[in-house]
Amino acid sequence: MQTIEAQHFVGGAWQGTPARRRVNPARPDDLVSVSAEADEATVDRALASANAAQPEWHAMPAPQRGQVLMRAAALLEDREPEVATDLTREEGKTLNEAIGEVRRSISILRFFGSEGWQIGGQTFPSASRDVLIYSRREPMGLVLAITPWNFPIAIPSWKIAPALVAGNAVILKPAQLTPGTATHLVRALADAGMPPGVLSLVLGTGSMIGNRLIDDPRVSALSFTGSLAVGSQIYERAARRRIRTQLEMGGKNAIVVLDDADPVVAARIAAAGAFGLTGQACTATSRVICQRGVAPALEAALEAESRRFLPGDGLEAGVLMGPVVSEDQLEVDRSFLDAARSDGLRIVAGEEAPRGLLHPPAIISGVKVTDRLAQEEIFGPVVSLIEVASLDEAITAVNSSRYGLVAGIVTSDLGAVQRFARDARVGVVKVNQPTSGVELNVPFGGVADSSTNTYRELGSAAVDFCTWTKSVYVNDPGWS
Ligand code: UN1
Repeated sequence: MQTIEAQHFVGGAWQGTPARRRVNPARPDDLVSVSAEADEATVDRALASANAAQPEWHAMPAPQRGQVLMRAAALLEDREPEVATDLTREEGKTLNEAIGEVRRSISILRFFGSEGWQIGGQTFPSASRDVLIYSRREPMGLVLAITPWNFPIAIPSWKIAPALVAGNAVILKPAQLTPGTATHLVRALADAGMPPGVLSLVLGTGSMIGNRLIDDPRVSALSFTGSLAVGSQIYERAARRRIRTQLEMGGKNAIVVLDDADPVVAARIAAAGAFGLTGQACTATSRVICQRGVAPALEAALEAESRRFLPGDGLEAGVLMGPVVSEDQLEVDRSFLDAARSDGLRIVAGEEAPRGLLHPPAIISGVKVTDRLAQEEIFGPVVSLIEVASLDEAITAVNSSRYGLVAGIVTSDLGAVQRFARDARVGVVKVNQPTSGVELNVPFGGVADSSTNTYRELGSAAVDFCTWTKSVYVNDPGWS
């Protein structure tokens, strides 16, 4: 298999010497990508070329900008088998998951491409005779996108596409673990005819690149997805310049299972959210909060379901769960199991030692809402079972987390569903569906420590983030 040579894309040219190695987390002998690492001069060139290219890009009619995204979608579609395979090799998720993600990216490019025909303002009645008042949506200018490794093509797509179609220049700084997948996306956009400078890809360490970009007066908006710790530092830095900032961070997502639920169906929903994507999603299910009556049957069904998610090489047919992304992540996952063991909690599944980065799906039972296991984000295939007496107690448990991204409920009780949808303190509620998996035309984001809760991502909310409103008053030339 080929090694991807990942370079910076600056001023319409690929540059930099690829040196940093990323091996396949499932097969250490497969060198997936070698990537360049930006120095200050590369970052400065990206800033200058973006700043120079943006006015002309803004002057281009929005439907034409959308056409570039449409062409990139078509190119990505042609390249789907290669891109999805490389995504699995680089990030680890299964090939089916990777194909789903690449298709999601293609749809995102098409959705925002067609927004080129939609971006518009409003007209307003005036208090004066014959005065026309309308609003225009102006691009922010230069948008910085800092993206994580766990959705290495979908998240960059959903940050870049709305910004570009709205007339912004964009600098993408992807995660260091997945530069090859980001390269595929930027290559598709470059090949689709993106004018030089409008889109830059800058690879390397977050602190140097991120800090230099955030501090630069030419950057006017910042969209970040990643950890709460990094997001908090970024937010403080961005606040010094008061730039528009959108941060999506962690989750401690719960699925509530009420006594009326079919335990087998509920277990399938919980396992898909907990072990799908190797639990490495900010929308992953980390807590299963169940009513006492259904608890024993649910635990047994969840244990049975977990056996389907035996970890393996995501390129192999039939494997439902890939490796964890890195040694560091593996250590985090293990530390939660160690804590469970030392706290005397029951480990229902997942006792086996990992093989390389292949971590077994883990279920821990008898967890209390205040335990570290139930409070901190894990980002791995580890799920806690928490028993509660009632819907009220379940909602209190859901809301006992500092995070507030997704919460699900499994039940046929419509009254309970309505209560839950109203009282769960989260940005997304899922009823009889896994917590992970969101649709691209729907606003997405969290509350509390999951998000800055400023602007939502995806759907038309994403365009709101990338634009500001200008109000225009037009009077009759004969004004007196
Ligand atoms: C999904 O579950 O479909 O990083 C998307 C993440 C989220 C996106 C989840 N920002 O996992």
